[in-house]
Amino acid sequence: MTSTDAVRVPRRAIAVETRSQDETRALAECLAGVALAGDRIALVGPLGAGKTQFAKGFARGLGVDAVVNSPSFTLMAEYAGRLPLFHQDLYRLDGSAEALEGGLLDERQDEGVTLSEWAERLDRALDAERLEVRIRVLPDDSRSIELRAPSEHLERYLDAAARWRPEPAP
Ligand SMILES: Nc1ncnc2c1ncn2[C@@H]1O[C@H](COP(=O)(O)OP(=O)(O)OP(=O)(O)O)[C@@H](O)[C@H]1O
Ligand SMILES: [Mg+2]
Repeated sequence: MTSTDAVRVPRRAIAVETRSQDETRALAECLAGVALAGDRIALVGPLGAGKTQFAKGFARGLGVDAVVNSPSFTLMAEYAGRLPLFHQDLYRLDGSAEALEGGLLDERQDEGVTLSEWAERLDRALDAERLEVRIRVLPDDSRSIELRAPSEHLERYLDAAARWRPEPAP
């Protein structure tokens, strides 16, 4: 499979391959074009998979000017863009009680888009329905980025991913 192939896996899921951090950012930037208020996106994948790279590209697509890094000390950072962007890094999260006390579930998220790294550390019951972005590191160091939509409402991201093509190499 080449990186230009976008293969529909089962229904409501799609996998795209990216060959560099810039391609991952470009894919995420494109996906941000279909973002709507209230969207929640779980970024799943091991350390160094590319979750923060995805967040940086998504932020660019929302017109965020600030530099997006992992919010290591605050579980959540907020950025102003076309829609407010809430970027969470839950790696150090110690249970859902801490999430509630730490203001992780904020009603303002309904007006923006929430990207959560290590979202699997938050009890699913506390989280609204979300697009799952699962990043796998392939043996040649490229990334397989699989999007799973739990409902039709989030399938617009799958359609955007299916249309996306990497820039041809210079
Ligand atoms: N196709 C690719 N997509 C994204 N990152 C890539 C790709 N190929 C190589 N990389 C490299 O992988 C690293 C990804 O780092 P990043 O901080 O985004 O990971 P992360 O998933 O956020 O990790 P953590 O769980 O530690 O927060 C970067 O150093 C980046 O340059
Ligand atoms: Mg990260």
